[in-house]
Amino acid sequence: MPFSALPGFRDFYPDDMAVRNHIFAVWRDVARRYGFEEVDGPPLESLDLFVAKSGPEIVQQLYAFTDKGDRQVALRAEMTPTLARMAGARAGGLRKPIKWFSVPQLFRYERAQRGRLREHFQLNMDIIGEPGIGADAELLAAALDVVRSFGLGPRDVIARVSSRGLLAALLTGAGVDDERLPLVYNLIDKLEREGAGKVADRLRSDAQLDPKVVDAVLEPFAQPDLEGARAAVRTDEAGAELQAVEDLFARLRAMGMDEFLRFDLSIVRGLAYYTGIVWELFDVAGELRAVAGGGRYDRLLAHLTDVDLPALGFGMGDVVLRELLSDKGLLPSTDRTMDFFVVAVSEDQREAVLSLVSRLRGSGRSVDYSLSGGGVGKQFKAASAAGATRVVVIG
Ligand code: HAM
Repeated sequence: MPFSALPGFRDFYPDDMAVRNHIFAVWRDVARRYGFEEVDGPPLESLDLFVAKSGPEIVQQLYAFTDKGDRQVALRAEMTPTLARMAGARAGGLRKPIKWFSVPQLFRYERAQRGRLREHFQLNMDIIGEPGIGADAELLAAALDVVRSFGLGPRDVIARVSSRGLLAALLTGAGVDDERLPLVYNLIDKLEREGAGKVADRLRSDAQLDPKVVDAVLEPFAQPDLEGARAAVRTDEAGAELQAVEDLFARLRAMGMDEFLRFDLSIVRGLAYYTGIVWELFDVAGELRAVAGGGRYDRLLAHLTDVDLPALGFGMGDVVLRELLSDKGLLPSTDRTMDFFVVAVSEDQREAVLSLVSRLRGSGRSVDYSLSGGGVGKQFKAASAAGATRVVVIG
């Protein structure tokens, strides 16, 4: 049996690698423009780091095993726990806010489908140590600037923004107690996929809410936009959370990004650790999974480390992004190019060819020549295939 890559894993041939490098270059350029420093951590972590706070969905998808030293370990499924661990370990000596980005390869045992694989790369940008809404605006602006830098606009990408703080205040007001909040978030996250009827059933059966509470829980989702949210606010706490959302929108308007935005209370995010503003970027046509997602996770550092610092960030995956760029005809050309191709008319010129090639490469030019010699016509064909802009003929 010939070998092939495992299901959900990719081989990167030169054309694929060129696209991957293009994506990474744009990611790094935007992160640099926003003043973020690059970090990385180990691809293998202790299993507990993910089990502690990521939430059940990711834990089910972990590539986990016992290593030869009897440690329970897992390939990283997301960067955020590692980042929290790293920031916590050095927090005392770092100037706040800490602004870090990374481009990790991540592993999740998912059912492979369009936009979902078992490995992917993710741009992560995170800010640690800044509690104000200004940081939320800055990060969402950065994510939108990334998509703009690929040539995508508000006709292609939409940011669906919500607030777990507001949602928590509304759910508490509707009569859900704190203990049941995580499960209720989880069920609301399924509204779009499963529909209100099914979610109502599960709120009754799984979360054991009485029917009146279920009605009150689902009421704001009949109109999950900003107007609907304004109408649903009945407590001071909910009012303050809504005000934070309005401030966020005002800041993004001032940055010229408001065309991308839509408030959407039904965005909850699958991960357990989020506490404040949360958002996801989607293609406007609604054909693909989320391109990016993020939010505020103010309590994760306190849970995983000795320091208590507010934090927020986002992850943008390369798989969905690539699909979207391809659909929109925005992938870069992957044609090869070379500055020079050096042709030898006969074997007698071999030394002169090698000497010239070597000098041109030494001066920073990209240069190729035929390793096996052959006729001039054949060498010109090779020059053309290599994408050479100039040919030097010796002889
Ligand atoms: P996430 O929503 O799980 O968030 O992933 C972020 C993005 O990574 C998704 O929107 C999607 O584009 C991509 N992605 C996730 N899983 C896969 C997969 N199996 N195949 C292809 N692409 C995938 C997080 O991971 C958070 N840790 C992000 C974050 C950083 N929050 C705060 N800081």
